[in-house]
Amino acid sequence: MKIFIDSADINEIKSLNDTGLIDGVTTNPSLIAKSGLNFIDAIEKICKIVDGPVSAEVTATDADTMILEGKKLSKIASNVVIKVPLTVDGLKACKNFSNENIKVNVTLCFSAAQAILAAKAGATYISPFIGRLDDIGADGINLISEIVDIYDLHDFKTEVLAASIRSVQDIVDSAKLGVHVATIPPKILQSMYDHPLTDKGLSTFLKDWEKTGQSIL
Ligand code: E4P
Repeated sequence: MKIFIDSADINEIKSLNDTGLIDGVTTNPSLIAKSGLNFIDAIEKICKIVDGPVSAEVTATDADTMILEGKKLSKIASNVVIKVPLTVDGLKACKNFSNENIKVNVTLCFSAAQAILAAKAGATYISPFIGRLDDIGADGINLISEIVDIYDLHDFKTEVLAASIRSVQDIVDSAKLGVHVATIPPKILQSMYDHPLTDKGLSTFLKDWEKTGQSIL
């Protein structure tokens, strides 16, 4: 399973990328607004830091303008993936991009039916939003499960990218279902490292090691 960072914060992306565990980045207009950066500059900077796919989202709502925006964004760097919303126009634009071998991430997916259409439109990634479904009392992980099953059954090549992740458990549940990618907010990614028994165990090992009076180097 690939790990993407769901952020447009350049410093956070830099420091997480230094771990060597990051396969890509997803951004969206809200994350860009939060970063306070110019959109094009931000994508350019992120693409220089991370080798893998970097999703940059169109903001037009009609297919023709989405295509113009997407073409401009795809010229920023070879690892830019165009993100389009799951609307009729978004999928028209997706089909157009996929015909030209431009990679597309179809975002704001909240149903299996939508995911089927995105696959038919040639999406590289489909982004089902777990947390936002859970927020309204629906079952985000169940949607992931449905999409993974349908894509497997019909041999769709679109990768399932678990998005809107709110907890480490969302990541584990998505991984168990076989998602190809999880896009993870930096704070949640940091907490994947944590376990109280790791801290406790390490502190005991270090105390005992000190007693030996030895040093490895
Ligand atoms: C995915 O690409 C989106 O940027 C993201 O996961 C949305 O998450 P949110 O619901 O926490 O805003």
